[in-house]
Amino acid sequence: MTGARVAVVGIHGHGASHVRNVARLAAAGRAELVAVADPRGGGDLPPDVRVFGGLDELLAATRVDVVVICTPIQTHVPLAELAMRAGADVLLEKPPTASMVEFEQLSAVVAETGRALQVGFQAQASEATLKLAAMMAEGRLGEIRGISAVGKWVRKAQYFQRARWSGKRRLDGVDVVDGAVTNPLAHATAAALLLDGSTGVDDVRSIETELYRANPIESDDTSSVRITTSRGTPILIAVTLCAVEHLEATVIVHGSEGRAVLTYQSDLIGDTKYGRADLLENLLAHRADPGVPLYVPLAATGGFTRVVEAVRTAADPVEIPGELVRWEGEGLERRPILLDVEKWIDRASDELALFSEIGAPWAVRSPGESS
Ligand SMILES: NC(=O)c1ccc[n+]([C@@H]2O[C@H](COP(=O)([O-])OP(=O)(O)OC[C@H]3O[C@@H](n4cnc5c(N)ncnc54)[C@H](O)[C@@H]3O)[C@@H](O)[C@H]2O)c1
Repeated sequence: MTGARVAVVGIHGHGASHVRNVARLAAAGRAELVAVADPRGGGDLPPDVRVFGGLDELLAATRVDVVVICTPIQTHVPLAELAMRAGADVLLEKPPTASMVEFEQLSAVVAETGRALQVGFQAQASEATLKLAAMMAEGRLGEIRGISAVGKWVRKAQYFQRARWSGKRRLDGVDVVDGAVTNPLAHATAAALLLDGSTGVDDVRSIETELYRANPIESDDTSSVRITTSRGTPILIAVTLCAVEHLEATVIVHGSEGRAVLTYQSDLIGDTKYGRADLLENLLAHRADPGVPLYVPLAATGGFTRVVEAVRTAADPVEIPGELVRWEGEGLERRPILLDVEKWIDRASDELALFSEIGAPWAVRSPGESS
């Protein structure tokens, strides 16, 4: 048995990890990597894998069951549509779409073609995330005062220079929305929404955004966002790519009977380690038996996409004054460090408050920040 015929689209960035994952499943006889598509050509691939410059050529030449899409955000919808109309199921990287309109378009294609589409929010398949959601639903943390998502990350010039779309809000007239909240730290928001049971498009009542940047980019690298879900939970996102040191992101649940910290990249609640299901394996299991639910169907990213839409339509990020930023490194290693950003993020998280509400020195209210 060789298993499902899988193609990976976009293989030179994060897509390399998808190629390795399909190779792992191939070794177990559960999948076969038949082809890849990337305008930059092939790379370190198993023998017999066909290489194409684009997905259209690939689909014209090869029959595939599943297409894994790991390309720039603005290419997600056309590529996913192409794959589903050709009869393939799709694992699409996050964020699935750059706008609400695109989300609706893609949802319509899923409905019309009847294909399965899983979104690459791997933390949603973590037993730690699901266990914490269950603990909350059972009332084990008491009444939930709110949820916060904290990201203190480091990104250097190399990250923003690796591709044309990096750090862009729009490119060539098309929405990209590649900012800290919507792309690198997207899992934090998505996990917080899942914990609240608010993943659907109608599960979000309001979104306030405060977007800032220290890097010479279009999009935000330091932001606070408050989502109020339909059930009334405040979810406060406080993130930066300009930290002193790179720490794992956390999602913190503030309950009347206690506080729980989810470190989703390591599948931890507090210090307790959990397992994690693989999203491609889950998609293959769902193909074999539609009774097996997907961990992250497109519909379960509707609430997250409301946040993308709020960031997309917000005013451009406000540049942080130079006196609050220290620059380190040269060339591709160069990076900004925002003064005391860790302290302000922790306060925002504890108080479920936006940067401007706690008086962070870079925070000024600007028009168009709410939706
Ligand atoms: N799930 C995760 O934890 C995670 C981590 C990193 C990135 N991502 C997501 O993966 C996607 C890609 O991010 P990246 O950082 O690897 O981007 P990247 O720009 O570094 O790499 C993208 C790759 O896609 C190729 N490509 C571009 N346009 C293409 C097209 N039309 N058809 C085929 N290939 C094309 C590029 O040549 C490149 O090899 C994004 O959606 C990103 O958010 C997810």
